[in-house]
Amino acid sequence: MNHRDVRKTNCMKINSKTWNQYSIRTIFSDQRAFSLKGVALLVALFIFSSCTSPLPDGLPEEISTRGECSICHGSSDNAAPPRSLSGSDLTTDIAVGAHQIHLTGGAIRAALPCESCHTVPATVDQPGHQDPSPAEIIWSALASSNGSTPTWDRTNARCSSVYCHGSSLSGGIVTSPAWTVVDSSQTACGSCHGTPPPPPHETNNQCYTCHSGTVTMSGEINILSSQHINGFIESSDNPHPTGWADATIHGYAFFDAPEGCKTCHGSDLGGGTSGLSCDSCHAGGESWRTDCTYCHGGLDNTSGAPPYGLLGQTSVSIKAVGAHTAHLMESPSHTAWDCTVCHVVPSAWDDAGHMDGVTGAELMFTPPSGTGAVYSSSTATCSSLYCHGNGRTVSGSVLWTSSTNLSCVSCHGYYTNYGSLSGEHSKHLEEAVRCSSCHQTIINSSNIIINKTAHINAVRDVSLSSGVYYPSTRSCSINDCHGSESW
Ligand code: HEC
Ligand code: HEC
Ligand code: HEC
Ligand code: HEC
Ligand code: HEC
Ligand code: HEC
Ligand code: HEC
Ligand code: HEC
Ligand code: HEC
Ligand code: HEC
Repeated sequence: MNHRDVRKTNCMKINSKTWNQYSIRTIFSDQRAFSLKGVALLVALFIFSSCTSPLPDGLPEEISTRGECSICHGSSDNAAPPRSLSGSDLTTDIAVGAHQIHLTGGAIRAALPCESCHTVPATVDQPGHQDPSPAEIIWSALASSNGSTPTWDRTNARCSSVYCHGSSLSGGIVTSPAWTVVDSSQTACGSCHGTPPPPPHETNNQCYTCHSGTVTMSGEINILSSQHINGFIESSDNPHPTGWADATIHGYAFFDAPEGCKTCHGSDLGGGTSGLSCDSCHAGGESWRTDCTYCHGGLDNTSGAPPYGLLGQTSVSIKAVGAHTAHLMESPSHTAWDCTVCHVVPSAWDDAGHMDGVTGAELMFTPPSGTGAVYSSSTATCSSLYCHGNGRTVSGSVLWTSSTNLSCVSCHGYYTNYGSLSGEHSKHLEEAVRCSSCHQTIINSSNIIINKTAHINAVRDVSLSSGVYYPSTRSCSINDCHGSESW
């Protein structure tokens, strides 16, 4: 094709989509004989200007701006194919291939620029741009990182020895990817390097444990950190053993020795010299710090009391769990107790005395337990108790891990075993007098406790159905039953 033909073609196609790609490319192919691109451009301009058909608005001035790059190739998304110079949209065409998967980014890396594979012209007429087909592949520093010498094999449409595809790594199964195969088969983990790479790399496949900047806990690439396929291998100076990220491993180690973690993770566990905050992967970020059911409790209620025990225990027969729920729930005989009856309660996880690394919880009894109450962890038994006593002495004792429900007679006499009750109980009960006759604010005639707050509160409540009881003298006023008598 001579210049005159070119000019004709040019004028003919001037309003068609393929005008520019076809004509200018042809012009340049033609001008190879002159080997002078400058001359070529002049000829092109001459042709444009001498053409009698209308020219696209503003050409050639505006095509020298990047905004107009997609006139000849690419689309409104970017200047890369599709569309190719010949108008193709097919990824199976070498001119189109895997352009867009590289340029839009995805699950394994953010978008790459054209410069990764080409010299990008600043203007359309930049020397080297519209030279004879095919397009030149000029590798970037990233593609050549770590001593890689990438090659483009046009015959087989494959790239080889590209750093990005694992040329310097081991274990990858597709390190010479096919340019015209655009599916997930070449971008899956394992394509470019093993998951994990073979030994001497660690066999641990929880990547985030040591590559926390690259991979999230759920195994996805952290695109925002820009650490993946960036030319550098990032790993942490991690002192922890395999499996440490497991909640039951590092969490339980924290229960045992919370202070030790602060050495590296900071006194506020916000990262310290390790750079890794304890808030970074816990569900809900920093909310674990104030969540009383994060480390213990949460199964029967949201108070923080076991079950679950610290190690996840749920059985009442295990002392970490024991009779927590039985105490914290209202029952026929008692109100719902508060933790403070048996423990000092922290307001935050890091309150002094709370997580003090001492194995097991501390018991600190307050009324009505009685200040002399004792808990033995080795026997899981409470003794010298008021609340499990007979109401007169501080001598009650009870097994914390028992699952037998207590009855009215477990602590003091009732209509049975009334001999253990004080004073004249026996006499009255033998005469079939009801408890409600003398404890009417506490119990009704159907033997239902009607004021649980006043039962087991360290006060003996006597209120007679007839007459008045004087606690100081333990006597009653003359009433319907008999005269004033001492109990
Ligand atoms: C991952 C590497 C890579 C990136 C990134 C890349 N290209 Fe390409 N490009 C290629 C390959 C491979 C070819 C085909 C070369 C061949 O035909 O031998 C090509 C061909 C082309 C062609 C010629 C199309 C044709 O019809 O012959 C154009 C134009 C082009 N690229 C433009 C771009 C632009 C613009 C960008 C950025 C927006 C870009 N490329 C980004 C690898 C890349
Ligand atoms: C008038 C048509 C036309 C315009 C406008 C145009 N290009 Fe091109 N471009 C081509 C042709 C033709 C090729 C193919 C050259 C080859 O095969 O070597 C090409 C190839 C490329 C390539 C592949 C690398 C190479 O040099 O082979 C890139 C990158 C590219 N163009 C970027 C751009 C950018 C950026 C702009 C806007 C500044 C632009 N193009 C505008 C025609 C054009
Ligand atoms: C127990 C810690 C640990 C775990 C878990 C771990 N890595 Fe690594 N990884 C390292 C260390 C340490 C290096 C070497 C860092 C260096 O060379 O600076 C490394 C290097 C690498 C490299 C570069 C290898 C090379 O040949 O240079 C890749 C790729 C890699 N890891 C991927 C993974 C993937 C994928 C996973 C999860 C499937 C993973 N790693 C899990 C510690 C770990
Ligand atoms: C297209 C090739 C490719 C694919 C696919 C790929 N990687 Fe990589 N990966 C690399 C390269 C190259 C490195 C070398 C280090 C670098 O430059 O970031 C790397 C390094 C890593 C590292 C070491 C830490 C680092 O950033 O240096 C981890 C971990 C890793 N990849 C995990 C994954 C996981 C998980 C997947 C799947 C979601 C995956 N990779 C898929 C190419 C790939
Ligand atoms: C000698 C310093 C040091 C001590 C002590 C330490 N850590 Fe770490 N820890 C680190 C470093 C460094 C990392 C890795 C940081 C990164 O990946 O960016 C890490 C990572 C972790 C991780 C993430 C999972 C993993 O394996 O990478 C957890 C969880 C963790 N530490 C918990 C703890 C707990 C709990 C304690 C106390 C029982 C503790 N650490 C004590 C330095 C320490
Ligand atoms: C690599 C991610 C990661 C890091 C970093 C991390 N944890 Fe965890 N941790 C978890 C996961 C996952 C759980 C399970 C609960 C959840 O998802 O929040 C957990 C649970 C826990 C638990 C509750 C254990 C249980 O089962 O009752 C404690 C305690 C704990 N972590 C302490 C820490 C401390 C202290 C640090 C910082 C030194 C830390 N964690 C850092 C992932 C991590
Ligand atoms: C009736 C007394 C009592 C009450 C009330 C009580 N606890 Fe406990 N708590 C105990 C006993 C006894 C243990 C077991 C100590 C041991 O390990 O031997 C214990 C243990 C614990 C433990 C440690 C669990 C473990 O895994 O080792 C936690 C946490 C705890 N209690 C929290 C609470 C909270 C929170 C409340 C209030 C919502 C509460 N307790 C109310 C008596 C009580
Ligand atoms: C990070 C884990 C964690 C969180 C969060 C946490 N605790 Fe604890 N808690 C423990 C550990 C561990 C123990 C065992 C006691 C020890 O180590 O001395 C404990 C014990 C207790 C005890 C038994 C008394 C004691 O001091 O031994 C009570 C009561 C308690 N916690 C209440 C709470 C309350 C209320 C909250 C919410 C403000 C809370 N805990 C949040 C870990 C935690
Ligand atoms: C865990 C031990 C315990 C159990 C179980 C128990 N009590 Fe009591 N009860 C006491 C104590 C201690 C007193 C002493 C007074 C006080 O502190 O309120 C008492 C006192 C009473 C009184 C005297 C009124 C008063 O409150 O002073 C009545 C009536 C009574 N109990 C009835 C019952 C009935 C009915 C049941 C069964 C539904 C029952 N008790 C179960 C421990 C218990
Ligand atoms: C005739 C009246 C009367 C009857 C009936 C009676 N109580 Fe009492 N109760 C008292 C008096 C009086 C006290 C002693 C108060 C004091 O110590 O000042 C008392 C005290 C108690 C105490 C505290 C411990 C003790 O032994 O002093 C308990 C527990 C108790 N009664 C339970 C019962 C129960 C259960 C019944 C029914 C089975 C019952 N009472 C029936 C009058 C009665």
